[in-house]
Amino acid sequence: MTDKKVELVSLQKMKKNQTPITMVTAYDFPTARLVDAAGVDTVLVGDSLANVVLGYPDTIPVTMDEMLHHCRAVARGLQRALLIGDMPFMSYNISIPKAIENAGRFLKEGRVAAVKVEGGGWVAETVAALVQAGIPVVGHLGLTPQTASMLGGYRVQGRDAKSASKMLDHALALQQAGAFALVLECVPARLGKLMSQKLAIPVIGIGAGPDTDGQVLVFHDLVGIEAGFTPKFVKHFAEVGNQMKQAVEDYCREVQKRSFPSKEHSFSISDEEFAELEKALN
Ligand code: KIV
Repeated sequence: MTDKKVELVSLQKMKKNQTPITMVTAYDFPTARLVDAAGVDTVLVGDSLANVVLGYPDTIPVTMDEMLHHCRAVARGLQRALLIGDMPFMSYNISIPKAIENAGRFLKEGRVAAVKVEGGGWVAETVAALVQAGIPVVGHLGLTPQTASMLGGYRVQGRDAKSASKMLDHALALQQAGAFALVLECVPARLGKLMSQKLAIPVIGIGAGPDTDGQVLVFHDLVGIEAGFTPKFVKHFAEVGNQMKQAVEDYCREVQKRSFPSKEHSFSISDEEFAELEKALN
């Protein structure tokens, strides 16, 4: 890893050199600093903010203002990684002018370098308009959580030749429209590999097998902060959630026993000053 800031072209170069691209989600300043220092190439403020951090049941309710608030916090924590903001449901689907206005807010107020939108050929015109307006775009195909109900729920996509071939056509339409990368979620590994080979733009997989141009995981899944259901494609690289819970339990116990704070974590006043205080009070 170099200290050089990751730019849009860096991802293209990494694909060309077959250097796997790392992407992770972040939703706040301390996490942004941590993942940046760890050397991740790209950070996504995913609309998974909704369910992972804000406690909504899915990604549908999260608003533009909520997304921008978290993008700003993450942007303040990054020095090297490229920041991408996820456009929430209905922020790019109503009309092209509205999509440009909202995507523009991501760059101007959220300080992201690019936005991500879900969908295939049917959003290609919007993608082209955003790119023409100077807004870099990442596509998202396969399992698209904003429209999961129309896909039959949270399930693997592109398992038959017809739907796999359609997905490739949609990806090519996004590429043609000017998307500079594609997130590919929850598809068979062989389709992940094929699509990475067929597309000129980098394909960042999540549950799309080992042969995509890069990988993305949700931060909380990666470090093992449990938020309910764990999909098959998630690997916990740590069990930080257990450690955090243990730490809070230990804190409560020590407070209850009055063993925290100890002298080590307390401030002193000289005997003379304290005697004077007592005298004044008496
Ligand atoms: O919102 C999100 O976190 C995402 C990633 C899982 C790709 O879209």
